[in-house]
Amino acid sequence: MDSLLIKGGVPLHGDVTISGAKNAVLPIMAATLLTRERCIIRRVPNLSDVTFMGQILSSLGAEVKREENTLEVRAAKVKGMGDYELIRKMRGSICILGPLLARLHKARVSLPGGCVIGSRPIDLHLKGLEALGAKITIEAGYVVAQAKRLTGTDMFLGGRSGPTVLGTANIMMAATLAEGVTIIESAACEPEVVDLAKFLTAMGAKISGAGSPTITITGVSELHGAEHEVIPDRVEAATFAIAAAATGGEVTIHGVRPEHFHAVLDKLKESGVKIVRNGPALTVSKASRLKPVDITTLPYAGFPTDVQAQMMVLMVLTQGISIITERIFESRFMHVSELARLGADIAIEGPSAIVKGGRALSGAPVMASDLRASAALVIAGMVARGSTLVKRIYHLDRGYENIDEKLRKLGARIERVEET
Ligand code: EPU
Repeated sequence: MDSLLIKGGVPLHGDVTISGAKNAVLPIMAATLLTRERCIIRRVPNLSDVTFMGQILSSLGAEVKREENTLEVRAAKVKGMGDYELIRKMRGSICILGPLLARLHKARVSLPGGCVIGSRPIDLHLKGLEALGAKITIEAGYVVAQAKRLTGTDMFLGGRSGPTVLGTANIMMAATLAEGVTIIESAACEPEVVDLAKFLTAMGAKISGAGSPTITITGVSELHGAEHEVIPDRVEAATFAIAAAATGGEVTIHGVRPEHFHAVLDKLKESGVKIVRNGPALTVSKASRLKPVDITTLPYAGFPTDVQAQMMVLMVLTQGISIITERIFESRFMHVSELARLGADIAIEGPSAIVKGGRALSGAPVMASDLRASAALVIAGMVARGSTLVKRIYHLDRGYENIDEKLRKLGARIERVEET
C-alpha cells in the first residue's frame, strides 16, 4: 500500500490540466450496457474506480478496451449478475442495475453496502425502478429486479437529503427503454447527470429537462452505439483551486467548465481568493489576507459535498471562525480528527464543523479515510511545516488522475513511498 510523503511550505505555481470527471464517466460506462453496439468514450481519466467499472462491465460479458484516455465498450451479449466481490469495491457500480434491468428484464446486483461517509442507502433507486413496474426483492445481499416490461410513469425521486445523483442516473437509464413517457420529479441537477443524458441522447434516447429538477424521458425500442467526450472534473478543478490558494501560490487551471463549480468559486472569492477567468482557464491566487466564510453543502448548484473537506483546510488556515455544515452525508467529517493531528482546531456540533482558523500546521503522519478527505490531507500537508505522511492513498487514486505528478509539476515536494 502506498503513502504520500509531502514536505510542506512550497507555494504551488504553474499550469495544470483537469482530467475527465469520475462521477460522469462511471454512469456513462454503465450506460454502454443498454446497447449491443460499440460505444466510444473519450477523456476517460485513468483512475482505479474506472478500472473497477471496466472489470464489472467485463464480468457482465462486455468487451472493454482502453487506449490512453479513450475507452471502447461493446456489450454485444451481457448477463444480469453483478457480483458482490466487484460491486462492494465501489458504490458507483450500483448504476449498472437500471441498464441491466432495461436490457435483460432481469438483474441480480449485489447491494453495495455503506462506506465511511455514511450509510448510503439505495431505497430511492429501488423506488424509481418499482414505479417503472419492476418487482424487486432482496435475496442474500443481492437486489433482484424483474420486469417483463418497464412502463413509463411520473415519479417523485427526492429523499431526506434532496435528490439522488446516481438514483437519477439509474432511473433515467432504465426509462430510456421503457414503454411510454417517464417524468422524474426532484431529479438531481448535477452536471454529471446532464453529461449522462447527453450520452444517452447520442445513443438514440429521447430525454429533455436534464439539469433541471424535472426530467422527461420518452422510451424507445432500442439504443445504438455512440461516441462521447466526458466533461472535465469539477471536483478536481475545485481541489486544485483550493490548493493554489491554501499554499499561497498562483496556478492556472486549464480545461475547466467554471459554470460547473460556481458555488465553490463564489465562496473562494468571498474569502478573498483572486480568480481570473480566461475562457476555459482559471488563474487562482491568494489575496494577502483571507476571510473566514460559512459553508453549507447542498445538492447542485449549491456547494458540493465533494469539496467540503478541501475547503475546510482553507478555513483552517484563515484567521477567524467559520462554520461548515454538511447536509448531504451524515458522517463526512472523518478528515477532522486527522487535520487535528496537524494542528487544526475544529469542533463538531451536529452536522456542523466549527473551525477556529489561523493556527500554523505542522507535519505528521495521517490516515486517509475517503477520497475527498485524502485530498484535504494532501493540501494540508503541502502547507504544514515539516513532513506529512498521508497513508492509504489508494483512496486518492480512485478519483484523482496522477495527482502526485500534477502537484509535483506545480512545485510541490511530494513523493509516493511504500507503506511499511
Ligand atoms: N440517498 C438516499 N437514498 C437513496 C440514495 C441516496 O437516502 O436511494 C441519500 C444519501 O444517503 C445522501 C443523499 O441521498 O444523503 C445524496 O446521495 P446521492 O445518491 O446523490 O449520492 P450518490 O449518487 O451515491 C454521488 C457521487 C458522490 C457524491 C454524491 C453527492 C458518484 C459515483 N458518486 O453519489 O461522489 O458525493 O453523488 O453529490 O457519482 C465522491 O466523488 O467522492 C463521491 C462520494
